[in-house]
Amino acid sequence: MIITNSIDDTRKQIAAARRAGKTIGFVPTMGALHEGHFSLIRAARQKCDFVVVSIFVNPTQFGPAEDLDKYPRTFSQDCQGCSLNGADMVFAPDSQVMYPDENLTWVNVENITDRLCGASRPGHFRGVTTVVTKLFNIVQPDIACFGQKDAQQVSVIETMVRQLNMPVTIIRCPIVREPDGLAMSSRNRYLEPAERQQALCLRLALDKAAELFAAGCTEAATLITAMENVIRQYPLARIDYIAIVDDQLLCPIEKIETQTLIALAVFIGKTRLIDNTTLTPPYGPYAHAGETCQWRQLR
Ligand code: PAF
Repeated sequence: MIITNSIDDTRKQIAAARRAGKTIGFVPTMGALHEGHFSLIRAARQKCDFVVVSIFVNPTQFGPAEDLDKYPRTFSQDCQGCSLNGADMVFAPDSQVMYPDENLTWVNVENITDRLCGASRPGHFRGVTTVVTKLFNIVQPDIACFGQKDAQQVSVIETMVRQLNMPVTIIRCPIVREPDGLAMSSRNRYLEPAERQQALCLRLALDKAAELFAAGCTEAATLITAMENVIRQYPLARIDYIAIVDDQLLCPIEKIETQTLIALAVFIGKTRLIDNTTLTPPYGPYAHAGETCQWRQLR
């Protein structure tokens, strides 16, 4: 497996793969890789001939009080995992390579970035869309794989790619969970043993909502209250948000009538975790997703 640090080298390697007639699959990451990331690499491997993984802890998507400095860095293990799961190349630039001077050029998706995680992490998605655009410009992949655990991130990137006519297909890959149901995340390694146990409340809250929905409850407010009640049983947990939104534009909905995303962020001690599930009613047209969304109607 090739490892590159510079943009020139990365471009040269990818150009050689292209000349050999290979299609390029891309998995952008911030390292601290786990089975969730490896599933993305395997998905890219299945669809493409040459798989590039980027490992870059992107400073512009962290707020001033967030965990940029202590974000786990496990580079040699990451490279091993990339190689074992079928990556052909790891691009691991440092900040100087990605942001050689004061960054004055930003890519910003409006509106859907203000909600859910965007409301608690101002500027986060602007950092994500900017670095992903830079990485897409460097790698120029045919496809790029992202995990559904960061459901809002994938929606934002899909919107960016569609609206900026970027020639890349975004592949959404399913959430990968620990055997007890906790969604895999690089941040899980921050959890103390007691916190690790209580972190299960995210999954349990989603299960409760799914169970009520399956029993016929479609009122978002009722489902949210039931989820809050689950999480309140865990003293180390503090809810950041629970949102029930249409899965296209992430607008809050009152009643589940079409494919719907339930997403939540919960602090377990100091660690902020996210998780989500999608509910699909067994009835009704999918076409009116986002009908209750004011800004969509204005477009
Ligand atoms: O999901 C992540 O790890 C990051 O947000 C990404 C997409 C690699 C951009 O830095």
